[in-house]
Amino acid sequence: MKTAIYPGTFDPITYGHLDVIRRSAGLFDRLIVTVARNPEKRPCFTTRERLLMIRGAVRPFRNVRVDSFQGLLVNYARRNKAAVILRGLRAVSDFEYEFQMTLMNRKLNPEVETVFLMPNENHSYLNSSLVKEIARQGGDVSRFVPEPIARKLYKRFGVHPDWKRDKRRRVR
Ligand code: COA
Repeated sequence: MKTAIYPGTFDPITYGHLDVIRRSAGLFDRLIVTVARNPEKRPCFTTRERLLMIRGAVRPFRNVRVDSFQGLLVNYARRNKAAVILRGLRAVSDFEYEFQMTLMNRKLNPEVETVFLMPNENHSYLNSSLVKEIARQGGDVSRFVPEPIARKLYKRFGVHPDWKRDKRRRVR
């Protein structure tokens, strides 16, 4: 049984991440989407909130599990008998960081391979910070995250999204 782990901060999970998950769910027997518990990142959503959001979003995929981890990723991979670390490559700008991380992880545990998938080009500009910034300003994030996550973002920032009002205005 081939297990892959897909680690990230997922603050919050976006359609870009979900595109990577959809592509890889068909390639591996088991995929574990795992939230890195890194207090230095000062995330907007707690680990528990992020886990719940991811669980909701990956419900359609039967072989996907959702978890969190602290400490070295390669140790987490070993504990979960995962042969593959999965990462998305959105653009050339991702390369350097991913290259360093992959080689370092390989040094730490040569038995785990890192596999890269390219998300749909429509998502190549997407990241969680941009989505948070747009939501904070009341902009439309419905193209970037599933509806329940969009609602959580607006609630977290205490904003009433402008674009919904704009839509109603257009309908009248
Ligand atoms: N679609 C949309 N956005 C994507 C994306 C995709 N397919 N892939 C990455 N991103 C965005 C994320 O939204 C995030 O955006 P943000 O910075 O605005 O929040 C950004 O790219 C970073 O992505 P992420 O995958 O969350 O990486 P990370 O750098 O936060 O975390 C870990 C990387 C968790 C894998 C790494 O830090 C780790 O392994 N930590 C454990 C400790 C360890 O083992 N360290 C040694 C490593 S050699």
